[in-house]
Amino acid sequence: MKKPYKEFSLDKVIKEIDIKEELPSNTKILLETMGLLRSSKSNIRDIKERILLDESLTFFILKTANSAYYGAVQEISTLSHAITFLGYSNLRTILMTYFTKNLLNKIKDPKLQLNQWRHSIFVAFASRIFSNDYDICDPEEGYIAGLLHDIGKALLIKEFQERYMSVIEKTNALKNPSVENEKEIFGYTHLEVGYLLAKAWKMSKTITYGILYHHNPKIVKSETKLPAIISLYDKLASEKGYSLYAPRKENIEEELEILSIGESEAERKMYEIQEEIDEFIKLYG
Ligand SMILES: [Fe+2]
Ligand SMILES: [Fe+2]
Repeated sequence: MKKPYKEFSLDKVIKEIDIKEELPSNTKILLETMGLLRSSKSNIRDIKERILLDESLTFFILKTANSAYYGAVQEISTLSHAITFLGYSNLRTILMTYFTKNLLNKIKDPKLQLNQWRHSIFVAFASRIFSNDYDICDPEEGYIAGLLHDIGKALLIKEFQERYMSVIEKTNALKNPSVENEKEIFGYTHLEVGYLLAKAWKMSKTITYGILYHHNPKIVKSETKLPAIISLYDKLASEKGYSLYAPRKENIEEELEILSIGESEAERKMYEIQEEIDEFIKLYG
């Protein structure tokens, strides 16, 4: 895969943001649990003990396991039962969902917070369904990349709420791409911030590239089509108002061409996703 292209200002981000310091305090437990879930040497007891260190994570997992979304027929009251019921792959996606929700909770404006949460879930579900149906990548990777594609924005908002509000205002006023305004106001964009976070967490190349190139998927289209899926559903989510910005009509021709699909197919999938996310959003509010 290509190196991140010159336009990216990784050095500037590193100077201004200490990715590890800026994360919520419970992130350490979460990352350790992710490590255990990826390792062939760990067992359920190790995983359970690590999760139990974080009460709200434990509650989040139990709530998820008992939700209509995962369809448990009997009540799941212990963490061990939840872990075996959900399986390691689902657990990894649930941990990342928990992380994203926690970080987005730092957005002070409740309407913006909910819209960005819906945006992230919408793109995550779309990426999972598409990765699977079109055999683009592992659906778990698709979900995580979709979920985290704008994680750089969440981090920027957490750290520089006021400054980011001016990016939102400017984007709504000029109706131009938000990355242009980020570049002007910060000197870098949410793409670099998200990419550095994914790199620090040793995420796969598919995920890191999904994050880095989701506003310019053609650059890596011969290597991975995941950024095109993310870009397509990022735009469709924004048109529906699931976004930090005011809804506007977006051009999706480039994404449709990369993915070799028609507009009606993309829209048909959108209804499928909508039904699933309504159920999911209800669960976490
Ligand atoms: Fe983005
Ligand atoms: Fe987005």
